[in-house]
Amino acid sequence: MTSGRSPSLRVGMVGYAFMGAAHSQAWRTAPRFFELPLAPRLTAIAGRDPERVAAAAAKLGWESTETDWRRLIERDDIDLIDICTPGDTHAEIAIAALEAGKHVLCEKPLANSVAEAERMTAVADAAAARGVFSMCGFSYRRTPALSLAKRLVDSGALGQIRHVRAQYLQDWLTDENAPLTWRLDKSKS
Ligand SMILES: NC(=O)c1ccc[n+]([C@@H]2O[C@H](COP(=O)([O-])OP(=O)(O)OC[C@H]3O[C@@H](n4cnc5c(N)ncnc54)[C@H](O)[C@@H]3O)[C@@H](O)[C@H]2O)c1
Repeated sequence: MTSGRSPSLRVGMVGYAFMGAAHSQAWRTAPRFFELPLAPRLTAIAGRDPERVAAAAAKLGWESTETDWRRLIERDDIDLIDICTPGDTHAEIAIAALEAGKHVLCEKPLANSVAEAERMTAVADAAAARGVFSMCGFSYRRTPALSLAKRLVDSGALGQIRHVRAQYLQDWLTDENAPLTWRLDKSKS
């Protein structure tokens, strides 16, 4: 989808379930809310199952599919790799994408270990020197209430901050019958 005037940012997304669906909506609607220098284009998604990835592309509005994320990285018609897969895959995909000159948006947590994150950061720094952008999807950072809180802190309106107390409440895994997901598997999460 392009605005017709802005040059395109051709996205290749890996993983199309929970966050993949959210990112699909975001790529599509962002230019309708914000004045953007580039028009995101939903060029291709990658999954491992050909039928399911085709169904996801049709549902979420992607132009084409791949069954191996490496193919996204090889393609000349993709500018940015959007990583929406479990944490154990982030480092390999992000590093390969950055080394191939693709911009990277990687879901959080960035990596499953500090060592992995440091390797990714080093590759991202080297890529940045070549004009390649990378970013981790810290969704709350841009939440309006949190941005306002940061502005209040930065402006000094709250004085010197000496103590911060925060709570993040989520209960969906307290159900003992909730299905096992990769999130509960330490080797993946
Ligand atoms: N920013 C946020 O608020 C937020 C919220 C939830 C999840 N996340 C992060 O988003 C990422 C994805 O989480 P999710 O909740 O969408 O998980 P999910 O299980 O809903 O989706 C993961 C997808 O990755 C696919 N996948 C796994 N390995 C793959 C591979 N090798 N190649 C291609 N596809 C592969 C799965 O088939 C699935 O489609 C994780 O890093 C998670 O921590 C971020």
